[in-house]
Amino acid sequence: MSSQHTIIVTGGAGFIGSHLVRELVNNYPDYKIVNLDALTYAGNLENLKDIDQSDNYVFEKADIRDAAQVDHLFKKHQPDGVIHLAAESHVDRSIENPSAFVETNVMGTVHLLNAFRSLWQGQWEGKRFYHISTDEVYGTLGETGLFTETTPYDPNSPYSASKAASDHLVRAYGETYDMPYVITNCSNNYGPNQFPEKLIPLFINNIIEKKPLPVYGDGNYTRDWLFVIDHAKAIDLVYHKGVNGETYNIGGFNEWKNIDLVKVLCQQMDQALGRSAGESAALITFVKDRPGHDKRYAIDASKIKNELGWEPSVTFEQGLEKTIAWYLQNEKWLRNITSGAYQSYYESMYSNR
Ligand code: NAD
Ligand code: TYD
Repeated sequence: MSSQHTIIVTGGAGFIGSHLVRELVNNYPDYKIVNLDALTYAGNLENLKDIDQSDNYVFEKADIRDAAQVDHLFKKHQPDGVIHLAAESHVDRSIENPSAFVETNVMGTVHLLNAFRSLWQGQWEGKRFYHISTDEVYGTLGETGLFTETTPYDPNSPYSASKAASDHLVRAYGETYDMPYVITNCSNNYGPNQFPEKLIPLFINNIIEKKPLPVYGDGNYTRDWLFVIDHAKAIDLVYHKGVNGETYNIGGFNEWKNIDLVKVLCQQMDQALGRSAGESAALITFVKDRPGHDKRYAIDASKIKNELGWEPSVTFEQGLEKTIAWYLQNEKWLRNITSGAYQSYYESMYSNR
C-alpha cells in the first residue's frame, strides 16, 4: 500500500467540486487527489483542464448510485479521506423529480459510507469522511435570526430533505461505527463555472442573450451569498483542521434579497457589456413562485471563524465582478452548456411560468 495521502473527492467535475479539486491539487503536490464523478449534466471536465495533467490528479468516471463501482474504486485507491460533494443540487429539479435526489444524495451517500467503512473499520486513525452540505437543511428563517450549528433540521424541498437525510446518515455512521467525520453546511455559492440553472449564472446568460429574467414571486426572498473559491478554501481548512464529529456552518456574512441582487447584477452587466443604464433591468420579469419557496437563509459563521480562523476573502462586489468577467471571457463554455439537453430543460422549466 502506498503511504501517499489520498483523498477521493466526489463531484469534482461540478461547480464547487472543480474549485476544490484545483485548490487541493495545487496546494498538496504530495497527495493523490482522485476525482470521482459520473459527469451528469452538471459535471464538466472542461472545468479542470488547467490541472488535469498534474501528477497528483486522477479522474474516475463513476456513479455513486452504483455500490459495486464505488466499492471497487475505494479498494483500488485506498482513500485516507473522502470529501463528498457529488449530488443533485438544484431545488427546481428536485421539485420536478424527487426520486433522483433520493437515489444520488441519500443512497449514493450510503454507498460511500459503506465503502469507507468496509475499507477502514477498526483502523480509523488519520481517516476522515467529510460531507459537504447546505444551509437549506435548516429550513427557512423569518425576518431576523441566523442559522447556527444547533438549529434543528427542518427541510422544505426534496433537495434539502435529501441533503438532511444524508447529513443524518453521516452522523449515524460516526456514532454507530466510530467513523471519523465532519460536516459543513454552507450558504449559496456563486462564481465561475456554475451551471446556468442557478440564479446568478442563469441571469448572466439571459442578460447576454437579452432574454427575460424570471424572478420568482415578489423577489423578496433572501439568500446569503459566498464566493465559491472562499468555500473551497474553507473546505481545505476544515478537512485538515476541523474536529471529528463537528459541524461547521459556512456563510458569506452577505445577505441579499433576490430582487436587490438582480438589480446590482443588471447594473454591473450593463457596464461590462457597454449597454445603456437600465437596459438589463428592463428584462426583469416576475413569474409564478417556486412551490415551498424558503423565505430567508442566513448563516452564523462565527464557529468556523473563531475556531479555525476562516472568513471570506472577497467582498460581494469583487466576487460578482470576477464572476461576470469570467462568464464574459468564457462564452464558449456557456454556449456548450446552453445547447442540447440544457435547452430542453430550460424550455420545460420556464414555458409555463
Ligand atoms: P453541481 O450540481 O454543480 O455538481 C454536482 C457534481 O456531482 C457534478 O459534477 C455531477 O456530475 C456530480 N454527480 C451528480 N450525481 C452523481 C452521481 N450519481 N455519481 C457521481 N457524481 C455525480 O453541484 P455544486 O453546486 O457544485 O454542489 C456541490 C455540493 O455542494 C453538493 O453536495 C451541494 O449539495 C453542496 N452545496 C452547494 C451549494 C451551492 O450553492 N451550489 C451550497 C451549499 C452546499
Ligand atoms: P437558486 O440559485 O436556485 O438557489 P437556492 O434555491 O438553492 O437558494 O435560487 C436562489 C434564489 O433565487 C431563490 O430564492 C430562488 C430564486 N430564483 C429566481 O427568482 N429565479 C430563478 O430563475 C432562479 C433559478 C432562482
